[in-house]
Amino acid sequence: MALGATGVDGHHAPVLLQEVVESLRPSAGGRFVDCTVGEAGHTLAILERDAQVLGIDLDSDALDVARKRVEKYGEQVHLVAGNFADLESAATENGYAPVNGVLLDLGFSSLQIDTAIRGFSINRESRLDMRFDSTQRLTAHEVVNTFSEREIADLIFRLGEEKSARRIAKAIVRERPIDTTTRLAEVVAGSARRRSRSGIHPATRTFQAIRMTVNRELENLRDALEGALRILATAGRLAVISYHSLEDRMVKRFLRVESSACVCPPSAPSCACGHTARVKLVNRRVIKPSQSELDLNPRGRSARLRVAERIA
Ligand SMILES: C[S@@+](CC[C@H](N)C(=O)[O-])C[C@H]1O[C@@H](n2cnc3c(N)ncnc32)[C@H](O)[C@@H]1O
Repeated sequence: MALGATGVDGHHAPVLLQEVVESLRPSAGGRFVDCTVGEAGHTLAILERDAQVLGIDLDSDALDVARKRVEKYGEQVHLVAGNFADLESAATENGYAPVNGVLLDLGFSSLQIDTAIRGFSINRESRLDMRFDSTQRLTAHEVVNTFSEREIADLIFRLGEEKSARRIAKAIVRERPIDTTTRLAEVVAGSARRRSRSGIHPATRTFQAIRMTVNRELENLRDALEGALRILATAGRLAVISYHSLEDRMVKRFLRVESSACVCPPSAPSCACGHTARVKLVNRRVIKPSQSELDLNPRGRSARLRVAERIA
């Protein structure tokens, strides 16, 4: 598979593939955890370098696809259904601790957004769902139809960074029951003060906020970052690709703290925190897809890669 190629055989095109491989430096005998195996795009590139991979995903449909794609690698790869929030126990149970590298490629895959019934897409009519894990109870339908107006406004404001959150929440509650993606998009668009100038759909931020609520995305990310540092061997690397500012901010802050020898406030007369740096930053500046990658795969346009190395 050519690095950076888009949609091999119609599969999700792995974002920043070459940059991830260069950052994680897989080689024979190395062990890696791909916490978001999806359709195995990044996993395949690591396997091609003769390293072993533990692949985790919440989505059983994605795992079915991944399983077929990695079949020829036999015992070099282990795929498990699970939440990356439980990374440390999954790695330990499967003999992948300590590891040489951990990858988190956050967000959703092309398989999920393009499968209408999963209810992720604004433009494809489906019952509201948005679960990565189809066995969990909470769905977008329940959030939209049972949460209070205040809870909806808060989550749209906080997780969608949407200025019109209150007005949108009021419209949602007024128009309930709302059963489908397209009806929700219509209600949100109808409550927007004006059309967005950027050309993105006016319901994009609301959909993001609801999806993040359904899947507890920020809470899971926080646990995964902690888990990753606990299982990384010295000189092992953590690579995280995020797709929006809230995720990227969380990763940036986490790595800033974990790469600092002291976290005392600047006003402190002397260090009293007892903190020690657990990682060093591999890239000071965030890594973004090249224009040539974006020409092939515009869905990667908001991707941001940060890499850190375990030092102690
Ligand atoms: C962007 S896709 C990964 C694509 C993959 N790197 C590839 O190249 O095919 C993100 C994947 O993460 C999974 N995911 C999201 N949250 C998760 C979590 N908390 N635990 C495990 N998997 C999760 C989603 O189901 C989705 O398949």
